[in-house]
Amino acid sequence: MTDKYGPWGIVAGGSDGVGAAFAEAMAARGINLVLVARRVPLLESAADVIRRRYGVQVRTVPLDLATDDAPVELADATADLEIGLLVYNAGSDDSTADFLDREPADHLRLVRRNCVSALETVHHFGAPMALRGRGGVILVTSGAAWAGGATRATYGATKAFGLVLAESLWAEWRAHGVDVLALVLGRTDTPSLHRLLGDEDQPLGGLADPVEAAEEALTHLGDGPTWISGSADPAGASPVGALSRRDAVLAMNPR
Ligand SMILES: NC(=O)c1ccc[n+]([C@@H]2O[C@H](COP(=O)([O-])OP(=O)(O)OC[C@H]3O[C@@H](n4cnc5c(N)ncnc54)[C@H](OP(=O)(O)O)[C@@H]3O)[C@@H](O)[C@H]2O)c1
Repeated sequence: MTDKYGPWGIVAGGSDGVGAAFAEAMAARGINLVLVARRVPLLESAADVIRRRYGVQVRTVPLDLATDDAPVELADATADLEIGLLVYNAGSDDSTADFLDREPADHLRLVRRNCVSALETVHHFGAPMALRGRGGVILVTSGAAWAGGATRATYGATKAFGLVLAESLWAEWRAHGVDVLALVLGRTDTPSLHRLLGDEDQPLGGLADPVEAAEEALTHLGDGPTWISGSADPAGASPVGALSRRDAVLAMNPR
């Protein structure tokens, strides 16, 4: 793992939920870590746990990935490191609302974090990987990417962006020895999902385990372009792929 994806890995959004599970799984494989998140106490305590448990080096970079300068700040904070694995994980939306019930600035924060910063970050760290002829990139996306649906317009659109970006880079970078994976998650037991379910007052249950999702993704990092976590056919077709677009949108629609 470290030969192909080391010596350092980045988890963008690595202090809780799926990202914290990725951080542990990468550290357990001997990869030193750069962890990015906004809340400093949570970030530092996640880093301390990993240092103590796995003995790898961990650098924390407190950043809001929804801001214009974040990709450059991350590049500067890691300029002295050889990054062999990038997991762009931060990307959930922990509230739902109709499109018009949110301010444009709110939508644009999602676009900035999930599309613009993701693209700039992947471009910056992918270039030296392609030159070296080794490395890995995982973009964490969602079943919301399969088709549009009410109350998730911008979230779903950003996740579709990540899905197609990862699949396209897989097609370009496979010849350069860089593995790219679009990791498609369903409902997964994370603090962010609990905030969302709290909002919607939905019953809990049937949630995927973030630790299993991260393990599965690292195990299948070379099996891109797309991995549908927890599916009986994880490298198979979209579950709505056989439907007309209209039926797919209706199938995704919570109403
Ligand atoms: N959980 C699910 O049911 C589910 C379902 C489908 C897909 N997914 C996908 O899985 C990924 C992880 O989801 P998750 O549920 O674990 O929650 P998440 O909110 O996407 O990830 C949480 C991590 O990201 C950090 N983070 C969030 N926004 C950030 C920002 N603007 N800048 C920097 N760091 C940020 C959080 O720390 P701070 O808050 O301190 O910044 C935390 O470390 C997302 O891409 C999501 O779309 C999740």
